[in-house]
Amino acid sequence: MAFVRVHVALAAFAAGVVLCHGVTFAQSAEKGKAEFVQHGCWQCHGFQGQGSTATSGGRVIADTQLPFDAFKAYVRDPTGSMPPFHQQILPDTDLADIYAYLESRPKPKSPSDIPLLHNLPSQ
Ligand code: HEC
Repeated sequence: MAFVRVHVALAAFAAGVVLCHGVTFAQSAEKGKAEFVQHGCWQCHGFQGQGSTATSGGRVIADTQLPFDAFKAYVRDPTGSMPPFHQQILPDTDLADIYAYLESRPKPKSPSDIPLLHNLPSQ
């Protein structure tokens, strides 16, 4: 019985360690959701990472296509108007969770998939 329990625990741990995009931390999209709010990312990027032309320069970070290393490099040392988030206030493990949360967000819909936009009067 103990043997089975150890194997179930190991399988659960392995499932939690995601190696996609070069991230080697155990990530949690659920924790990342809370950290995205706690660290104030939502204030400029929106709760879903959907962005806005007013606060994120139109950048959408939901379903980010950036590899984790590039994502982390930008958050640590942004080149535009975004404030930097250093390791001391936002550890790599929390950033990996935020990355997992953003990866779990759905892509924005294509305008052609929004019925309301199909029958707009032409100008
Ligand atoms: C005060 C507003 C503000 C806050 C807070 C903020 N950002 Fe940004 N972020 C921006 C803006 C504006 C850009 C567009 C580029 C620039 O001007 O730096 C950006 C760009 C980015 C990019 C690059 C996107 C790309 O495709 O190039 C990433 C990744 C990012 N932000 C992640 C985060 C994360 C994660 C947090 C929270 C830890 C955060 N941002 C908090 C304003 C903000």
